[in-house]
Amino acid sequence: MKRNIVLIGFMGTGKSTVARRLADRLNRNFFELDELIEKEAGKTINNIFKEEGGERFRDLESDMIGVITKREGGIISCGGGAVLRERNVKILKKNAVLIHLTASPQVILERIGDDENRPLLMHNNKIERIKELIRTRGKIYDRCADYTIDTSELGIEDVVHEIIEEVIN
Ligand code: S3P
Repeated sequence: MKRNIVLIGFMGTGKSTVARRLADRLNRNFFELDELIEKEAGKTINNIFKEEGGERFRDLESDMIGVITKREGGIISCGGGAVLRERNVKILKKNAVLIHLTASPQVILERIGDDENRPLLMHNNKIERIKELIRTRGKIYDRCADYTIDTSELGIEDVVHEIIEEVIN
């Protein structure tokens, strides 16, 4: 049974870009959870949060995790909060390796500070908000990760290379 490769970690750490490139390179299926949730709901993440609330988004996210993990050998990019529910972690960890991407708050801000489809960052003081969320989530990411890569100073190719060399081979 081919293991799924699951990318977890905070927003702006490069999960989607790396996962897409990795899937291309390995000729595997690519799944972007947020994209699939948006397609299923027929609206953006931002509008799901605005119109239906954060808990509803988390429910849709859990449902999608259940669906995607039924397959094998895929490269799955998770939203930053996908591992906040213990049950999601259990399901994601089945027949999979969990790779945690990190980046410094400053780098995260530079990468996604202007993105308006990130409802959790709709704050006046974005850098403080990023730091606060990382503080509360850091332990959770660490606990469920099989492997961690700091992407702050790496290009996409470097990260893809490290995953192939250290995790897959
Ligand atoms: C979230 C991260 C987002 C998206 C939603 C909530 C989070 O995904 O799922 O806005 O709780 O960290 P990305 O990490 O892909 O930006």
